[in-house]
Amino acid sequence: MTLNEFQNNILQGIPKELPNQKLYEPNINHAPKRKDILSLDEKKLALKNALRYFDKKHHAILAKEFAEELITFGRIYMYRFRPDYKIYARPISDYPHKSIQAAAIMHMLSNNLDYNIAQHPHELITYGGNGSVFQNWAQYLLTMSYLATMTDEQTLVIYSGHPTGLFPSHKDAPRLVVTNGMMIPNYSKPDDLEKYNALGVTQYGQMTAGSFMYIGPQGIVHGTAITVMNAARKKFKTHEDRKGKLFVTCGLGGMSGAQPKAAKIAGLVSITSEINPKAAQTRLAQGWIDEVYTDLKALINRTKQAQINKEAVSLAYQGNVVDLWEMLLKENVQVDIGTDQSSLHNPWAGGYYPSGYSLEESNAMMVENPNKFKEEIQKTLRRHADCINKFSEKGMYFFDYGNAFLLEASRAGADILKSNGEFKYKSYVQDILGPMCFDYGFGPFRWVCTSAKIEDLEITDKLAEEVLSKIYQNAPEEIKQQLHDNIVWIKDAKKNNLVVGSQARILYADCEGRIKIAKAINQAIKTGLLSAPVVLGRDHHDVSGTDSPYRETSNIYDGSKFTADMAVQNFVGDAFRGATWVSLHNGGGVGWGEVINGGFGLVLDGSDDAEKKLEQMLFWDVNNGISRRAWARNEEALFAIKREMERTPNLIVTIPNIVNDSDIEAIVF
Ligand SMILES: NC(=O)c1ccc[n+]([C@@H]2O[C@H](COP(=O)([O-])OP(=O)(O)OC[C@H]3O[C@@H](n4cnc5c(N)ncnc54)[C@H](O)[C@@H]3O)[C@@H](O)[C@H]2O)c1
Repeated sequence: MTLNEFQNNILQGIPKELPNQKLYEPNINHAPKRKDILSLDEKKLALKNALRYFDKKHHAILAKEFAEELITFGRIYMYRFRPDYKIYARPISDYPHKSIQAAAIMHMLSNNLDYNIAQHPHELITYGGNGSVFQNWAQYLLTMSYLATMTDEQTLVIYSGHPTGLFPSHKDAPRLVVTNGMMIPNYSKPDDLEKYNALGVTQYGQMTAGSFMYIGPQGIVHGTAITVMNAARKKFKTHEDRKGKLFVTCGLGGMSGAQPKAAKIAGLVSITSEINPKAAQTRLAQGWIDEVYTDLKALINRTKQAQINKEAVSLAYQGNVVDLWEMLLKENVQVDIGTDQSSLHNPWAGGYYPSGYSLEESNAMMVENPNKFKEEIQKTLRRHADCINKFSEKGMYFFDYGNAFLLEASRAGADILKSNGEFKYKSYVQDILGPMCFDYGFGPFRWVCTSAKIEDLEITDKLAEEVLSKIYQNAPEEIKQQLHDNIVWIKDAKKNNLVVGSQARILYADCEGRIKIAKAINQAIKTGLLSAPVVLGRDHHDVSGTDSPYRETSNIYDGSKFTADMAVQNFVGDAFRGATWVSLHNGGGVGWGEVINGGFGLVLDGSDDAEKKLEQMLFWDVNNGISRRAWARNEEALFAIKREMERTPNLIVTIPNIVNDSDIEAIVF
């Protein structure tokens, strides 16, 4: 298809005449069939809802077709309307536009649907099994045509994938406001999502899927590297001390697959167990693991040798994680750091496999005898927890990796609770990311070069390295380590070769770092050093964007971790301080009803306006969360916000008075 034809396709939106029906392509990774949850009347309503996008003359044909999709897949995706052109992050100038900001949004949105990026591209799902960009292809087509024709005096509004329309606004307003899965709180149970998603009135946007900010595997590798490296530091201060130390974990899937790569970056010996041979082979082919073993004896011998030789090497055990842990115990292997990243947030439908059965046997049992499957899983979990306890007694550092390991182990009756009912072990946010990063304002800042040119990305890498190195020279001790890790990361960024899809970069930076990098990039666009605008953004898994009591805000101990004021305030505050687009989501990572999270995109075009916006918006986007964390009495956040107030006279944050426990204990109720 020529560029002209592509542009005409975008501009036409939903075609007036029906395009040919699309064949279902079996070699594409498709979303699983969803639960059949609608009553007969509700199914009719779902059809009526879907047909709203089309001229009446097509209703008879489409009604039949959509009904079939609903019966076969549990959802109406409108496959017929999937465009014929390839969807990927094209150079920004390829998109027809009247607003350069809107063109940048098209670049980002297209990346989320790129076949090399999206998990189930035909169902418009980017990651996490259900992280939707849109609910159906009509929404995609309509959104693209709105973006292509809108001006800087309009704002596009999207309700859970549905483009409500273009509304008059002004040049400093966001070009786009997205909400995903926002529900009346009482209607936020998992089955409510199934039902209202099947009706076509809501969607699960995950974090960066429905907010058009996904950048492929780079984000997860960097986050995991920071986590594993800091976990290792909790036990071993220097790189030299860490050499030959053993890290044991589970999972080579979507996110978990980053663990061995991260462990290698941290200089450790690692063993990752993975029951699915396909997942293990994929990571081997990608070079994320070095060696795969099916024989436990051979693996143990190799591990001991690697420990003695102090190698940084990533080993994998293709088999059940509990068999691995029990053998390590039997063979008296020294394990220094342990965690688990099987999908225990989804234990009964293939997230965690029982010991004693092959993958195929387990998959069959899951469907044919779900009660027995549950029993076997819980038995395996109890054995799993026993091993963790025994190794911890010998000095291993264990952390929960946000996958509900501790929760499910406790539900299985494992010995995982202290006498006061708390878990024996902490989560990665409570122990690592919270106090070491989020409380100081360090979080997953990212940018995307909309020229789609690698040369532009390399220039931005260099600029970021220079900025962080300069900040490092006068940084207080408290944040030197974080800066150092990210300077090393950005220096090696090209070598690590993690760019898939758009020309994107991620690193962890605090408010000062984010603003200074953004300014340097904006300046480089102004002088022509960079050839096109750059989009700034971040993961929602950050200091301010997300309220999630068992993850991002799990290290908030004043009782407010079950509130979502921070995330909502963040979304609104970003919107009026200059963000090009803002998004607010229910769900993301830990599940529907369990988290509220938000994000932004900010287009830098080299203008003075962009400089003003980036300063105002990034300052708020980081310091909002630090203030809340400081009010919760988190020491690191108190340090960070007091330092910020010294630098910024018109920042006045309410600081808590610290109460002596003895004053409380003396009170009799
Ligand atoms: N990395 C992060 O930043 C992060 C953050 C928070 C939560 N998580 C959580 O981590 C979990 C993993 O995410 P994912 O996207 O990698 O999931 P995934 O399902 O793609 O991967 C999990 C892997 O574990 C394997 N597995 C399951 N049980 C096993 C067993 N008993 N023995 C050996 N292998 C087994 C599965 O075959 C699968 O390949 C999820 O629960 C996710 O919510 C990750």
